[in-house]
Amino acid sequence: MRSVLFVCLGNICRSPMAEGIARKLAAGRGLSLEIDSAGTAAYHEGERADPRTREVLARHDASFDGRARQVRPSDFEAFDLILAMDRQNLADLRKRCPAAYVDKLHLMLEPVGGGDVPDPYYGGPDGFDTNHAMLVEAVSAWLDRIEA
Ligand code: 4NP
Repeated sequence: MRSVLFVCLGNICRSPMAEGIARKLAAGRGLSLEIDSAGTAAYHEGERADPRTREVLARHDASFDGRARQVRPSDFEAFDLILAMDRQNLADLRKRCPAAYVDKLHLMLEPVGGGDVPDPYYGGPDGFDTNHAMLVEAVSAWLDRIEA
């Protein structure tokens, strides 16, 4: 079974959204995949996902029931793919990742043209809808690659 870790800054907005979407889309494809998410920072360790993330997921028949956690050193060995929501997250991961595993690190939007999934934390609810649409497209493209 393959595995993917989604990473953002706080693990309460973007990466839990990606995790909820990936769980739904992988199940819909009958794809067996281990899915988790984490943050580069520990500010929100142990907290539930932002209510705005949970609301968008619920509206799209998905959910995230986990608790925020920071990226751990063991994640770099444990996961096959580690997908960063923005270039800052990717740079932070690269600093911590053992050289043997750096090829596992990618930008979330790489298969759909690159760029960042914007941090929605200080914005309005629209940001969460925009992110959801971006993430559905990007997660689908990653699942295509995993299945190929
Ligand atoms: P996330 O969003 O990285 O998508 O979970 C954020 C959550 C919290 C903060 C920043 C971004 N914060 O500064 O606390």
